[in-house]
Order: sequence, then structure tokens, then C-alpha cells
Amino acid sequence: MTTTSSASPVRFDPHAGLHGTLRVPADKSISHRAALFAAMSSGEVVVRNYLHAADTESTLAAVQALGAVVTREAGLLRIRGVGVRGAGDVSGAIDVGNAGTLMRLLPGWLASHEGRSWRLDGDSSIRRRPVDRIAEPLRAMGAVIEPTDERFPPFVVRGAALQGIEYVLPVASAQVKSCVLIAGMASSGGTTVVEPAPSRDHTERMLARAGVTVTRDGARISVGRVDALELDEVDVPGDLSSAAFWVAAALLVPGSRIVLDHVNVNWTRTGFLRIAERMGASIGGALEPAGAFAPVEPVSTLEVAFGPLRGTTVDADEVPLAIDELPLVALLGCFAEGTTVVRGAGELRVKESDRIATVVDGLRGLGASIEATDDGFVVEGSGGLRGGRIASHGDHRLAMLGAVAGLASREGVEVDGMDAAAVSYPGFADDLAGLSA
Ligand code: S3P
Repeated sequence: MTTTSSASPVRFDPHAGLHGTLRVPADKSISHRAALFAAMSSGEVVVRNYLHAADTESTLAAVQALGAVVTREAGLLRIRGVGVRGAGDVSGAIDVGNAGTLMRLLPGWLASHEGRSWRLDGDSSIRRRPVDRIAEPLRAMGAVIEPTDERFPPFVVRGAALQGIEYVLPVASAQVKSCVLIAGMASSGGTTVVEPAPSRDHTERMLARAGVTVTRDGARISVGRVDALELDEVDVPGDLSSAAFWVAAALLVPGSRIVLDHVNVNWTRTGFLRIAERMGASIGGALEPAGAFAPVEPVSTLEVAFGPLRGTTVDADEVPLAIDELPLVALLGCFAEGTTVVRGAGELRVKESDRIATVVDGLRGLGASIEATDDGFVVEGSGGLRGGRIASHGDHRLAMLGAVAGLASREGVEVDGMDAAAVSYPGFADDLAGLSA
């Protein structure tokens, strides 16, 4: 890979075969939660292998602004929290940067501080992402939430003595589920969230480890009120969503065989691996069985090699379990035999970019035969991809999609805005170099 400046396009040439073993960056979702729940704890929490990327640095800055004390040591963070109801005042807005998870989880905590208020804001992408989905349940619990144009950041959270609720999620969203559960811990009476389909459950697992009574009964997840969180240590495993770029690269670049160490294989995150296997991929490594619910986060070593793929259909119930990897399903579809369809994925339109539009336009510009639908896309596999130029639109997953497309393409790909990758994966270029050595 060559780069001249962050503003210049970065070129990814066709690759001769990826080899070697890699430890991918720490999980972004689990890192956000570790920082937030440590800040809500009263004692010191040790967080090992925290992700140091733009999004999760925004969370550390936010919890520090709210009064948590963060000490950085080699390979770990020590976070001294302020307690469940001890968030401090912040002058000006809390800056969530590009981090949707921070923007949607933090208000769940702040909302329980009676008579206090905070303002949240972020970058230009975050200002296009809806917060009405958390405003509705938090208002039902008693808080006052004031979004811009009733829907967007910047917005104000005015805390109140919250009442527990039963909330049926209109869309499967781990962020909204987490927001309501966090508010529920500080509410009188119990709180139950009902999911239309399972979504990532890192919040439930980490809260259970912190001494909160969290129960799951089918689609119903309930929490009881707590006065203190008892979290002592969190060891953050590798991020399946980051590993997925290398899984895709190894499947698509002839001659590849790679090993990915210490990857989180929580079943609510491994939908992409199951989809890829259905397309014909053979992926070695023990995955957590679907339906498991344990306070631990399971880890595994994944082994992936190049192989032929066939098209598949991804339906709505699979979407939340692979939501961030659906752009990669589109890429695999370009190389597969037959048609690949993703449907019931309208949520992609409200990610860091409108990922239906940006993936379809981006891959089409590289020679793909792909059409957008209202809630997904349809790809006609043509056995390969020509290459060309793709824009990240400031979206980290688009930038890395373009990079992997380049490695597997016939003519190479130039990615405009590759620096966006640093939101979740600052060492992406180094890791590629490591797999190319
Ligand atoms: C996340 C949940 C998902 C995912 C996002 C991280 C989380 O969002 O797309 O990257 O950490 O809870 P939604 O809950 O909005 O689907």
C-alpha cells in the first residue's frame, strides 16, 4: 500500500495471496461498553486490550468529561468511575465524534440524573443519524430529550427520576436496546425490552458480570434496579467486524490462507461467518452456538482460505447478526456464482453513511453488477471485479471495503478517504503489510 497524504487516494493493487497469522484490533462495541460501565462503577475497573481508535477515544474523552479518571498503562486502562448516579456537569457539548454507539448508549445513563442536563453533539455524519429512536423510550421513562428537528443531534438530555417500562423495539437495534437497559438499571420498577430479532448482546453480558440481574426469556430482556455496578476487570477480545475484512480478503484473493487469533465469536456477532459458509466458504474455528447467553465473551482462532463461492439470500432475521458486515456480503456476491440478495436491511441507510447507496454506487463504480432496493441490494456475481476508484464518504467500513476489493480486483482500486478506517481500525495498513510479508 502506498499513501502520500490522508487527502490523497490510497491504491490497493491486486494481491498475490494473503498469508500469516494476525491478531485483529479489540472489539469496538465491547470497548465502548467497558469504558461506559467502568465510568458508572464506583471502584476502579481494569480494562485490558481496550480499542484505541477514533470512536472509542471519543468514549474515553466523554467519560473523562463526566468525571471518570482514566489512567493509561501498557496494554491496559484503569478507570475510576463516578457511580451510577454520579455523572459530573460538562460545560459545552459532550463530543461523541463519529460514534453512534456512544451517542445512543450514553443518554441511557445521563437520563437517570434527576434535575441535571447535558448536550451531545458530534461530527457531520453523526448529525445525520437519528436519535428519535432513543428519545421515545427515554421519554416514556420520564426523561426529557430535545433533538434537533425532533430527530437529530445535537440534542439535550434532561434527567429525571425514571420509571421502568416494557419497551417493544420497532427495529432490532443493540444500541437502542442497550440505552433502555442502562436507563432501566437506574429506574424504579423493572424494565423489559422486547426485540423483534436478536441483536448483539454485549451490554447484557457485561452488566451481568457487573452484578446486575439481567434475564432473557425468548425475545424479552429484563433488568432490575441497581445502586452500584461491581465491574472489576474487562478483557476485550478481537473484533469480528474488523476480522471480517481479512476473512473476505482471504476468501477472494487466490492462494490465500490466514489465521486470525483471539477473535470474539459471540453468536450475536458471527452472522457474517454463517453467511459466508452458506456461500461455500470453509472457515475453521469453534463458534459459540446460537442462543447461548453467558456473562463471558467467547473467543476463537479462525482459519480462512481462498475458495469458490455461490450466491445466497440474507433475510431480515439474519440482518442484525451481520449488520456491519453486509457491505462485505455484497463484495463476496460480486465474486460468487449466481445471485446474492440482502433484504430487510433498511437499517443500513442510517449507518455512518447510507450504506445501501454507498455500497451499491461504490461497487458499481468498480465494475459490479449490483442494484439497490429499498431495504438491501441484489448482486449478480460475475466471478470478479475490474477495479477503479471508490469513495469512503467518511465511512470506515466503506474505506476498508474498497481496500479489500482492490486486493481481489483485476486492475486495483484507489480509495478516496482511506483515513476514515481509523475510526475502528487505525492499524489496517500495517496489518495488511503483515499478511503480505
Ligand atoms: C452497535 C450496534 C449496531 C452496529 C454498530 C455498533 C453496538 O448498531 O451497527 O456498529 O455497539 O451496539 P444498531 O444497534 O443501530 O443496529
